Amino acid sequence: MINFDAQDLLATAEIDEPLIIRGTRCHGGFDADGKYISPRNKYRSAAIDLWRRQFETRYARAVASIPPQSFPSHIPSLRQAEFLLERGILDPLVKYFTKIGIAESFGEVIRHAPTNIQRFFADDIRGTATAHLEKGLLEAHARDEAGHEEERGHTDMWFLARDVAFDGRPAERMRLEVVAEMGDSVTRRAAKEIPEVKRQHRLCPDLDPDFDRLLERLTTLLFVELAAYPRFAWAEEFLGNSRLSAGEAARIVRYIRQDEDPHVAYLLIVLDEIREMNVIGESGKLHRGDSLVQPHWNRAFHALLTSVSRTGPEWFRHEVEKEVIRLKLPRSVYRDFVDLGGPMPNPT
Ligand SMILES: [Fe+2]
Ligand SMILES: [Fe+2]
Repeated sequence: MINFDAQDLLATAEIDEPLIIRGTRCHGGFDADGKYISPRNKYRSAAIDLWRRQFETRYARAVASIPPQSFPSHIPSLRQAEFLLERGILDPLVKYFTKIGIAESFGEVIRHAPTNIQRFFADDIRGTATAHLEKGLLEAHARDEAGHEEERGHTDMWFLARDVAFDGRPAERMRLEVVAEMGDSVTRRAAKEIPEVKRQHRLCPDLDPDFDRLLERLTTLLFVELAAYPRFAWAEEFLGNSRLSAGEAARIVRYIRQDEDPHVAYLLIVLDEIREMNVIGESGKLHRGDSLVQPHWNRAFHALLTSVSRTGPEWFRHEVEKEVIRLKLPRSVYRDFVDLGGPMPNPT
């Protein structure tokens, strides 16, 4: 039986030198050869591999996978970004990086999940990745995104990458602006935690609202993580090659990308495990996990595509337009920017 305790799944491998960016202690560090070591990964990735193999043996099929290319990108193309830099139109880019950092801070809520997950299942879940959600898997994920104690996580690492790249830009003003713009969705998210609202929002009316909410959270998280892949790849390439000379910022993004690997991996396994098991409804009736996961899966995918089209290229173009007006640049600059929009770079 595959069994880890929270301490194992939260343990970081031996590091020689901590990751410190501009005086800020971030998670992870470097081994004696200078290789970056992600936090909380002494056993976590190995454990995830074991759960994957266990799943494949038990159910004679591979764990689902979704190519990152399934998601449209949020971003200006590399050429468009360079065009903005050449003309000193930096705010939309600074804001974009700020937005990613703030989105990562929502990772904080990942840890708030129901306990004693076994009570939702008719099957014995011991030894599965699902059983380990409350034994460190969700906590490790939350810490990666939002930081833990004195170690800063992805939220601050994105802010640091932004500050390294766009030295001296009004970062705090940006943060406040973005928080105000995103305020609505934060309020909506908080409202869903009220028990009566949780009950009303269930996709399966016979399901314990806490379990329904867990399925909603896991599927949402999975698609948000997957959609981030091409954006993060873009960010690393842009920072590494642009006229900003932001090699250090590109390295920070590379560390973040390495840390992200276990996130999608465990979420895919857990959701597939749940699909294969029987879930106990409030009435006592048993439901096939598959029939419960699929509606959440569809909803989360659809919600993500809708939000990408609402907050993606359209949002960015609007930011550029505002900045062209603020800087009193000719209107043609905005048109040229839009015309340059070509196909997005392939995720690496
Ligand atoms: Fe992250
Ligand atoms: Fe992540």
